[in-house]
Amino acid sequence: MTVNLSVIGTNYLGSTHAAGMAEFGHQVIGVDIDPERVHTLNSGRSHIYEVGLEQLLETHTSSGRLRFTLDYAEIADWADVHFLSLGTPSGPGGAADLSQLYAAIDSLAPLLTKPALIVGKSTVPVGTALKLEQRIRDLAPAGDQIEVAWNPEFLREAFAVEDTLRPDRLVFGFQSEWALDLLEQIYAIPISDNTPVVHCDIATAELIKVAANAFLATKISFINAMSQMCQVAGGDVTLLADALGYDTRIGREFLNAGLGFGGGCLPKDIRALAVRADELGVHVLSDFIRSVEAINAGQRTELADLAIDQAGGDVHGKRIAVLGAAFKPGTDDTRNSPALTVADHLHARGADVRIYDPQARLPPREGFTQVASVDQAALGAVIVLHLTEWPEFRYLNPEHLGQLVKEKIIIDGRLKLHAPTWEQAGWKVVQIGRATTL
Ligand code: UGA
Repeated sequence: MTVNLSVIGTNYLGSTHAAGMAEFGHQVIGVDIDPERVHTLNSGRSHIYEVGLEQLLETHTSSGRLRFTLDYAEIADWADVHFLSLGTPSGPGGAADLSQLYAAIDSLAPLLTKPALIVGKSTVPVGTALKLEQRIRDLAPAGDQIEVAWNPEFLREAFAVEDTLRPDRLVFGFQSEWALDLLEQIYAIPISDNTPVVHCDIATAELIKVAANAFLATKISFINAMSQMCQVAGGDVTLLADALGYDTRIGREFLNAGLGFGGGCLPKDIRALAVRADELGVHVLSDFIRSVEAINAGQRTELADLAIDQAGGDVHGKRIAVLGAAFKPGTDDTRNSPALTVADHLHARGADVRIYDPQARLPPREGFTQVASVDQAALGAVIVLHLTEWPEFRYLNPEHLGQLVKEKIIIDGRLKLHAPTWEQAGWKVVQIGRATTL
């Protein structure tokens, strides 16, 4: 059955969710406070680089199922369900900054005069949903006829459309049969495809999301800690990860060692979890999370130090080529990008940093020159750093690059280059997590 629904907040999560819901057959209005973004989305274009998103936006802005607005009055009594897809960035001390959520509620609630389900998709500290519900009920003419449910989102950037249309699980945190029924109507297509659905209370739904991101971060930091062991003891962390991965209880995914995790989600979500755990007195969890964070931060420093060592102890005035600026391949997102932390570090030590990324466009910033090709980055470089594993970097021609650089040294921060091929072309290959770096 078609549901009229609004999606409030149209960044990575919201724009993909809105387009995905239209693809499921619903009537969707996306709301945002950014006029330029609303204009772009209404013309069927995407403001972010995400495979398949633009096609979906184009299809459904044309089919009439999807449009975007700046005006809450257009959605208030039109929609039966309002999704909250707003950002919850890191606030002071690492706690989640919920101001976007509260601002949206304060705009919407006073306009709600009939029963509606508000469904949270944003990642929030446990306890937030019920506080939001109270605030909405206080502000809305419809009062207690407004109910909150929580339906966290697990989409990955670079696979956002795929993850939205074919999720690996759905989590429904709800309080009444009415809410469950609406959620089941909205997700009728994936449910009919046998997608597992977890029915739970709201607190569990809020916690499932942060626990998922914390567990992914833990896997990455664990393998990075093992990579340090490998370096010292002479082992190979990639082979170690492969062997662990054959154990289906462990699994191979998220065991790629290297520069560690970045992006707009994992780092800020685990920090907020640690803060919330402290607030609730669960120090065993906050201590655990903080060591995951510390390992992650250490990988970035270690790579920068490795570059300085390989440059003879001083990078001042030396050109360094950085391959990759996005926090991972397949996206143009540079939020909390490990590659940029390394570049910043080297710039602070006086290096002349040249960055190339196939998609990410950096705003002009002091000390970085963003260039349009790998060749331009490599020209005259004393070290090449492979920091974001775009597939095209795997197939670079070391012979050709060797003619452009000043010194044939490459540091593989993602353990994805085929070292023997580079070595045959006369390069010194340094891979973190492999004993060759000794
Ligand atoms: C992450 C989660 O994977 C999603 O499930 C979740 O919905 C999303 O956050 C969110 O909360 O919105 P995303 O931020 O797109 O998705 O990025 P990931 O694919 O998780 O990668 C995170 C970082 O970990 C990247 O910097 C990546 O390079 C790094 N990584 C990943 C590793 O260093 N090693 C690995 O083995 C895997």
